[in-house]
Amino acid sequence: MIASLNGVSSGGWVRYARLLAAAGADAIELNLYDTVTDPTATAHQVERRYVDLIEELKAEISVPLAVKIGPWFTALAQTAVSFRIAGADGLVLFNRLYQPDIDLDTLEVRPRLQLSTSSELRLPLHWIGVLRGVVDLSLAASTGVHTGRDVLKLLLAGADVVMTTSSLLLHGPEHLVELRREMVAWMEERDYDSVDQLRGSVSRSNVPDPEVYDRANYFQTLHSWI
Ligand SMILES: Cc1cc2nc3c(=O)[nH]c(=O)nc-3n(C[C@H](O)[C@H](O)[C@H](O)COP(=O)(O)O)c2cc1C
Repeated sequence: MIASLNGVSSGGWVRYARLLAAAGADAIELNLYDTVTDPTATAHQVERRYVDLIEELKAEISVPLAVKIGPWFTALAQTAVSFRIAGADGLVLFNRLYQPDIDLDTLEVRPRLQLSTSSELRLPLHWIGVLRGVVDLSLAASTGVHTGRDVLKLLLAGADVVMTTSSLLLHGPEHLVELRREMVAWMEERDYDSVDQLRGSVSRSNVPDPEVYDRANYFQTLHSWI
């Protein structure tokens, strides 16, 4: 059972991590849901604030700490390493930050929740594939997981665990049975005995040509459309 905290800077609230761990949480997830709109704040200052917060939280708890982040970091691999050095045990990729919409009748800015689709899977898949074997953090995938095949792709890229929210909101908790059924069918067809056997086997550090994960693949990607 993982208790989730939502905060972006140090403060008295950090003691809630200790209280949650004392109440029986097996781990704490820190959700860094942060939209930095201050034009004077530098990326370094913002990331320093996150690192300080991770250090402060780790001083409070003895259970593992996972950090959930959004995708918009300039140097994500280095950021992940700095979170590890600060004491994070896991990284959740990615938060799905909600973007406002404008109502053309009233000219009001409105929050509008749209659930994800499988097409959004590629962003966490890309970065999990890149970070697997590069940083000593347990990696969790979040965003765009709707089918058993989605789960398999993320495990192959290197996810330790895969999370899904939108699919359960759409189909109910019993959808987990379907996800598992699809996974087991695919694995049995290919004689896999466990997810450990396949985890990370298609990560950037395990594929013959790591450039498929990089921009060098750009032209090939564009040509794949034609
Ligand atoms: C209604 C709703 C409530 C959510 N509440 C939280 C939350 O409290 N903490 C959190 O870390 N993420 C929260 N999320 C984000 C999800 O955990 C997840 O990261 C995001 O929806 C992307 O995954 P999905 O494509 O499986 O939906 C929420 C999402 C939805 C749709």
